[in-house]
Amino acid sequence: MISPLPVTIRPMEPRDVSTAARFSKPAIHGDVDQETIAEWFSRCIMEPEVFAHVATIGSQEVVGIGLSSPGHYVCESERAVILRLLAVDEPYQGRKIGEQLLVSLLTLCMTGFTCVALYVDSRNERAKSLYQKFGFQRAEVSEDIPSIADYLLLEGIQTVEYRRLFHELKRALEDRLTRAEFSFVG
Ligand SMILES: CC(C)(COP(=O)(O)OP(=O)(O)OC[C@H]1O[C@@H](n2cnc3c(N)ncnc32)[C@H](O)[C@@H]1OP(=O)(O)O)[C@@H](O)C(=O)NCCC(=O)NCCS
Repeated sequence: MISPLPVTIRPMEPRDVSTAARFSKPAIHGDVDQETIAEWFSRCIMEPEVFAHVATIGSQEVVGIGLSSPGHYVCESERAVILRLLAVDEPYQGRKIGEQLLVSLLTLCMTGFTCVALYVDSRNERAKSLYQKFGFQRAEVSEDIPSIADYLLLEGIQTVEYRRLFHELKRALEDRLTRAEFSFVG
């Protein structure tokens, strides 16, 4: 089993844009080139309501990104967030970095939103398994979506029940990271 890797999570800055664009391409639908993705990131970090976080290791090497913005079209809640992107650089996948980014985004969402939505390639079992662990469920939507995509919805993030689940998942993650750090000693 690969050891989890603790990362620093911080807001994305202009200097992160090209690295994050390089490894984000597989997570973005359609034939979009790296330059276009980098331009999108540059615009996102200027938007006050966009949460754009990167995960870094060592001396600031960017290895993951999570990006979300407010949205209304996928659930009836007035205070919805759309999770637009979650991606970890391939050599670092499976080391709990995606989960740490998701926790940081959901923590921000819980400060004022009631619902989080996203769409994911229906064949992407790895991503779906992560989202389902955090309570996302498949939802039907009236508008046209690509046939290979599933809409996932996380409702009731302000409820006591959800906060309890989130707290437990977060604590389990922190425990695994702490144990991984100890395992480096000696
Ligand atoms: C999906 C992605 C963001 C997950 O990040 P990650 O750092 O690799 O995943 P983590 O190590 O944090 O794993 C967290 C959870 O994801 C799921 N998961 C991770 N790897 C998995 C695998 N190989 N098979 C099944 N589930 C897996 C599990 O639920 C896991 O929790 P567990 O360890 O308690 O079982 C990352 O793999 C990635 O960037 N993939 C390519 C881009 C992409 O698909 N993005 C999502 C688009 S919506």
